[in-house]
This record gives sequence, C-alpha cells and structure tokens, in this order.
Amino acid sequence: MRWTNLAESEAVAEAAFALPYGKGGGGGFMAGHLITKLVSRPRLARRWPELSVAVLDDDGSCVARGVTIPYASTVEGRDPYPEGGWEQAVLWASEDALDGRAPDTLCALEIAVHPDHQRRGLSGRALQALRQNAEDVGFGRLITPVRPPQKADDPWTPMAEYASRTRDDGLPSDPWLRVHVRAGGRIRAIAPCSATIAAGLDRWRTWTGLPLDADGPVAIPGGLAPLFVSVSLGVGSYVEPNVWIEHLG
Ligand SMILES: CC(C)(COP(=O)(O)OP(=O)(O)OC[C@H]1O[C@@H](n2cnc3c(N)ncnc32)[C@H](O)[C@@H]1OP(=O)(O)O)[C@@H](O)C(=O)NCCC(=O)NCCS
Repeated sequence: MRWTNLAESEAVAEAAFALPYGKGGGGGFMAGHLITKLVSRPRLARRWPELSVAVLDDDGSCVARGVTIPYASTVEGRDPYPEGGWEQAVLWASEDALDGRAPDTLCALEIAVHPDHQRRGLSGRALQALRQNAEDVGFGRLITPVRPPQKADDPWTPMAEYASRTRDDGLPSDPWLRVHVRAGGRIRAIAPCSATIAAGLDRWRTWTGLPLDADGPVAIPGGLAPLFVSVSLGVGSYVEPNVWIEHLG
C-alpha cells in the first residue's frame, strides 16, 4: 500500500474522486449544501490536484482519499478558527483563487475510505498522508473542521460538550475525533455554523422520510444537530457544528 497526491496522474485523480463517500455524509440532505458546488470533484482535480491524496492498495486501486484546499490566513478579519468552519474555508479558498492571493494555510475538507475497506485503520493512513503532503508541497499550517459522523447518535448535545468527552486513556470518546488526535491533531475550537442547509419542507421530507408537521427542532437521520422546522413558513434550516482541529501550525 502507498499514498500519492493526485498530481501523479489523471488516472489516480479519477480513481480517487470516483471513490464513493459511503455512509457518514449526513444522509441525503447534504445534497442541499450549496457551497459544496464550489469544490466539486472535477474542479478540485483540475485546480489543486497536488493538494489531495489517494491511498492506493497493492493492486493500484484507490481505497481512501483526502482533500485539502488552500487559503491565506493573514487577510484582515480572517479568524484562525472561524465559526463558519467548512463553509468559511471554502469561501476564503474560492475568493483567494479568484483574486490571485497566495495561500499559506491548508484546510482539510474530507477524508473518505472506500466502504469495502472501512474499519481497517485506513483513515489514519489517509490523515498521515494529508499531513505529509502538506509539508511536501510547502505548507506549514494544516487545519480541519472535523465532522464526527457518530455525533448523529447524539444530536441534542452541544458539540463543545460532545467533543470534550474523553476515554480513560485521555483520547476523545468519539472515534473520528480520536483518529485526528492520535495522529497529532489538537482540538482548537468549535465551528458552530460549519454547514448550513436551508430548504423547503417538501425537500426536507424527501431527504429525511419524516412528516415534519410540527414547528420547532427535530432530530433527523444523519444530522449532528437538529433541524429547525417552520410549518407556517414551509422551510427547514439545519446548522451543523464541526470541530476545528489543528494538525500543523
Ligand atoms: C469515518 C471514516 C473515514 C473512518 O474510516 P475507517 O478507515 O473506516 O476507520 P478506521 O478503521 O481507521 O477506524 C478509526 C476509529 O474509528 C472506529 N470506527 C470506524 N468506523 C466505525 C463505526 N462505523 N462505528 C464505530 N466506530 C468506528 C474504529 O474502531 C477506530 O477506533 P479506535 O480508535 O478504537 O481504533 C469512514 O467511515 C468513512 O469514510 N466514512 C464516510 C466519510 C466520512 O464520514 N468521513 C469523515 C468526515 S469528512
């Protein structure tokens, strides 16, 4: 098994981005996360192939992928750990790409392990690859707004409380946060509004399979936080918290 970044070849980039995301992406409702369109797979492969990595099995097939994007952290008004988390990082990276501003920070947006190869410790390998690649391509700072999929079992607990839970050995109780901390990451802040999805209730009903016929917050499948429903306005809004982790910096 080895890792490489996607600048190695078009075939590697294609295989890496063909790898299915699997469960953990928040159910169908992530289809309504509009800002993801800015960092579509073809765009990332074309624009920043050297900033994403693939973990390749001995037969050359891609078993895991890690994605980072670059932005400049030194621009006035840019917090080191913005409350807008994932969305803020995508917006800054897009602004800087359009404006031609030189980046100094990498933000990891995603690690995905092929569903057939999960539970084999590959997520840690993908993360180590991202850390090493960041250094190899000349970045001294790597941060990530982490989405712990298992938080969906506990949607009513504030993320700060959830992320602070530890086991007897001091590592986070949540398995995905644990992978990051074990790799050398440090939990720095909560990003309370990392992913925001607003849509009409009919679409929310399709995504969740729930009747959504009462006002107020409701837990939804795959949601790390509740969905806020307004029946009279016919809309629902979901505000997802993530956890800022610093890997290099
Ligand atoms: C989350 C994900 C990356 C984990 O990858 P993985 O290679 O299967 O995980 P690993 O085998 O490295 O296991 C890491 C830890 O999580 C635990 N774990 C993995 N899958 C788990 C599950 N479904 N339920 C509970 N624990 C799980 C492992 O036991 C391990 O814990 P440990 O510290 O006790 O050893 C993978 O499930 C995935 O790609 N999911 C879809 C994409 C996603 O949600 N990515 C994360 C947000 S970007």
